[in-house]
Amino acid sequence: MAMHTELWFPSVVWSSVIHIVDNEEVKRWAYEKQKTDKGRTISNFGGWQSNDIKQGECPAIDRFIAHLNNEIKTCAQQVGLPELELYNLWVNINPTASYNHLHNHIDSVLSGTYYVDAKPEQGNIQFERNDNAEYHIPVNVTQETYYTSTRATYAAKTGALYVFPGWLKHSVQGNYTDQDRISIAFNYGEKR
Ligand SMILES: [Fe+2]
Repeated sequence: MAMHTELWFPSVVWSSVIHIVDNEEVKRWAYEKQKTDKGRTISNFGGWQSNDIKQGECPAIDRFIAHLNNEIKTCAQQVGLPELELYNLWVNINPTASYNHLHNHIDSVLSGTYYVDAKPEQGNIQFERNDNAEYHIPVNVTQETYYTSTRATYAAKTGALYVFPGWLKHSVQGNYTDQDRISIAFNYGEKR
């Protein structure tokens, strides 16, 4: 008889493609914002990361947040988390050759990213496992499964929304095109 199997401590990545965002409006707003907001450097190498955006600054982003609150509610319920609230949200404009080194989002329960304007050649997001299994899993592994994988790559593409645990380490590949990759990133945490 086969043994009972249980999947402990999974690193869930939720993904979907949404069509409710006026990407053109967000884009116009982001380039305007960039003129007055010097931005900040956290995990980004090159590119511009805005300071936190407040509700009421950009109507298209407000509508996105309303949608996102619902998505996050569903994600949280699915895995038994209590109700979460938006902690912060920012916009990234990543030109040629910019990338983000490996990092996680301290203090965040669920984090994520939405692509306002992107294609895979502009830098996919890569999640890495964090349990040192890469030193234990045989190199001649025959089947790539959730169990044997050490990295998961999700495509940068317009409309894609990815949500993941704040502790899950990730990096963003370089932008190999001459066009900007534009994304929104966010953190949700315990209700205060
Ligand atoms: Fe990140």
